[in-house]
Amino acid sequence: MGFRHQNSRSSSSGCFSLRFSTISTIIILFTSVYLFLSPTKRGSEPFSWTKIETGFNGDLRDANFPWNSLCFGNNFDKLKLAVFSKTWPVGAAPGGMERHAATLYHALAAKGHEIHVFTVPSDRKHHLDIHEDNLHVYFAANDHGSVNCSLAFEIFNSINANGPFDYVHTESVSFVHDPESGARFRRKHGIPQNVSVVMEVAGRLVRDKGHPLLYEAFSKISKTHTGVYLLVAGSGPWGKRYAELGSNVKVLGALEPSKLSEFYNANDVFVNPTLRPQGLDLTLMEAMHCGKPVLTPNYPSIVGTVVVNQSFGYTFSPNVESFVDALKSAIKDGPKVLQNKGIACRKHALSMFTASKMADAYERFFLCLKNPRFCQYPLPTDC
Ligand SMILES: *[C@@H]1O[C@H](CO)[C@@H](O)[C@H](O)[C@H]1NC(C)=O
Ligand SMILES: *[C@@H]1O[C@H](CO)[C@@H](O)[C@H](O)[C@H]1NC(C)=O
Ligand SMILES: *[C@@H]1O[C@H](CO)[C@@H](O)[C@H](O)[C@H]1NC(C)=O
Repeated sequence: MGFRHQNSRSSSSGCFSLRFSTISTIIILFTSVYLFLSPTKRGSEPFSWTKIETGFNGDLRDANFPWNSLCFGNNFDKLKLAVFSKTWPVGAAPGGMERHAATLYHALAAKGHEIHVFTVPSDRKHHLDIHEDNLHVYFAANDHGSVNCSLAFEIFNSINANGPFDYVHTESVSFVHDPESGARFRRKHGIPQNVSVVMEVAGRLVRDKGHPLLYEAFSKISKTHTGVYLLVAGSGPWGKRYAELGSNVKVLGALEPSKLSEFYNANDVFVNPTLRPQGLDLTLMEAMHCGKPVLTPNYPSIVGTVVVNQSFGYTFSPNVESFVDALKSAIKDGPKVLQNKGIACRKHALSMFTASKMADAYERFFLCLKNPRFCQYPLPTDC
């Protein structure tokens, strides 16, 4: 959540603020969903312009629809933002939050705002600070690789002394559709050419990401549907168990971000088994950007904004039976139908979930906090 920076904090109160920031990491997930991605009043219905017109008084603070549906123009007010992020993506296997943060702040810096990020590298190793035009990333780690609060606030205070920050922001996508890289990935990992449907799952292979559910559903389905194949990216305790499922499952371990794009392009359908109705799952948007349909639980956060209807994939209630039914529907539809759904997914993702959409909306959000004039929509500069 953004809050206005009033005056320099001492190092001792600094640690509290950083803890506060960790808490608000969770809040921002929800605010992001609420501000930009919240479903329209009648939940699962697709969003349309007619609904914006009904009841929208032109004040963004009262908007009850995703700001990503609007088209914000450029403006000339520049912001100086401080960002506290738990980690910054460096090396293999960064989590969704840090990748979201990196995408957002790169995009805001590219729009001319001065961005200073206080964080540690996600690989917990030593790296030099990053200074790329308007984007400054300061690594303030202690011996264990996590954030040294005193150090982070020392740097923060010295930069704030040179000109105060407008806001302090706390929190913890960029893939393209490329069938050739997907085919290459399949060959490289020895996926038989005669399989009928390739499914993929990605992320930390832990219980609360729903892996017990997928494990059970897939072991059921692979007995009756021998042509299905499952590719698993990520690491965690469930990796071993997936590997025991047989020759039509392959566990790839954690993938470098550069390999993730090829990975997404290699599937026919992307499976997200999460058991937590979490904010908004980055993997779903990434798969859709690569032109892939998704198979995912029917949580309101997903059905209201991502898989708004059947043209984007399959949804299930979070239990094995319903999961198996959804898998069966996808297999029955087959690669051709899946491909068409994938094309629809990509179109939807490009219209709603891009770095520039997100940066435009966040920029407007901060400007609106700073000056209510920016809370009006449309402004003459808006498109
Ligand atoms: C699904 O939703 C999209 C985006 O709102 C819309 O363009 C499309 O017409 C809908 N398709 C169906 C079958 O309802
Ligand atoms: C944290 O940073 C402060 C200030 O630079 C330093 O004095 C302290 O030794 C550091 N603590 C750890 C655990 O690295
Ligand atoms: C695919 O081919 C392999 C080797 O030729 C064979 O063992 C396997 O049963 C085939 N799988 C399917 C689903 O046809």
